[in-house]
Amino acid sequence: MTEKALWSGGRLDSVLDISMTKLNQSLDIDKRMAQEDVRGSIAWARAICDAGVLSETEFTQIRDGLERISEELSNNSFVYRSTDEDIHTAVERRLTELIGPNGGKLHTGRSRNDQVVTDFRLWIKNAGSGLSAQIVELQKAFLERARTDLDIILSGYTHFQQAQPILLSHWWLSHFWALERDKQRLKETIHGADSLPLGCGALAGTAYPVDRFKLAAELGFASPAPNSLDSVSDRDFVCDFLYWASMLGMHLSRCAEALILYSTMEFGYITLDDQFSTGSSLMPQKKNPDSLELIRGKSGGLTGRLCAMLTTLKGLPSAYDKDLQDDKMLVFGAADTAGLVMAVMSGVLKTLTVHPEQCRRKINTQALATDVADYLVKKGMPFREAHHVVGKAVKLAETKGIDLAEIPLAGWQEISPLFDANITEIFSLEAAISRRCSWGGTSREQVLKQIALAEKIIESAD
Ligand code: ARG
Repeated sequence: MTEKALWSGGRLDSVLDISMTKLNQSLDIDKRMAQEDVRGSIAWARAICDAGVLSETEFTQIRDGLERISEELSNNSFVYRSTDEDIHTAVERRLTELIGPNGGKLHTGRSRNDQVVTDFRLWIKNAGSGLSAQIVELQKAFLERARTDLDIILSGYTHFQQAQPILLSHWWLSHFWALERDKQRLKETIHGADSLPLGCGALAGTAYPVDRFKLAAELGFASPAPNSLDSVSDRDFVCDFLYWASMLGMHLSRCAEALILYSTMEFGYITLDDQFSTGSSLMPQKKNPDSLELIRGKSGGLTGRLCAMLTTLKGLPSAYDKDLQDDKMLVFGAADTAGLVMAVMSGVLKTLTVHPEQCRRKINTQALATDVADYLVKKGMPFREAHHVVGKAVKLAETKGIDLAEIPLAGWQEISPLFDANITEIFSLEAAISRRCSWGGTSREQVLKQIALAEKIIESAD
């Protein structure tokens, strides 16, 4: 079976091997940029009309045809053909069907090389605002948890060993701030995509007197790209986008990993809602945190897409090469995955149950060892020495099989004469938390400040 492509019939024989047709075809993927393609083409028709290539009548005819195509796309009546190699050829083919040979004038001075990347940038700019709104929604879910769980205390971990007690709100907010950076990163990515390739032609620029500044303004770009060779093959914005998605995925994966552990019987800090859990086909007792595992798993694919794009790019000599066709598949996949994992994480957060007593019960008083050292520091001992002394106390408690807080006063005083009866006051979790009261710390007062700051950020985003 052979297929006849739009570019065939001149230099090339029309026969493409069926395997080559399949490999070459990108329509299934790039049809997502159909409306962008139409928009770019209307602007291009205007530009070449201004440049004297089209008459006003021809321009109107082409614009009307393209508008009709836009409607067909919107109401799903646009019929794709097996000979449509990609979305650009599909739109041009349909235009010619609708308006006749004048449709063939649209591509004057333009190449699919500058066209495809114009469409792609338009698509990313548009998708960026939706994804940014989704980040805000997820931030709101973390913030809401921080408000609800304000007075819940749990152990904070380093090396996944109990380290110091923290407020659960502080932990929730730590994810809010990571997302805030993701939001800023996305904004910068969109900013990086704001340079117009259209008018660069195949590689060397267009031979018609097109006003690319006007064209850029027409399509909502900050400016036209200053170098045609660079612009047709510049996919930095793609890498930036994929990096953004990798970072978001990594942030959510880390959060998911902790929540998975916190939902185990061993921790028991949280219970996931059934809406976000699944059962086992074999073990009747199982309730699995699949939602969080999938979020964690998807981050692998997000990072992989970035790696794939960078690997493709590194071998390309100059200007456009067909290798670049695979860029869309990576970005669309990353955008869809990022959107989905954000939605699921929001749902998980909104529906999970926290078990405050269990969070508290699991804190070993060794998590207050730093506070005991600080107690000695207040009495004049250099911190390094205090660290050593308290280390001995921890060892003593461990040898005796008792809790750090259970060491009798005599035992403390044997270790250092600086200890007196008020050492017991150190073992208050609330007091330990309220001592972390400098900016960014876990004290209630500071966490409330964080909440207020986060609320301001959300308000300005809405
Ligand atoms: N489908 C192609 C892509 O996505 C469009 C550009 C084709 N350019 C070319 N010179 N064959 O990259």
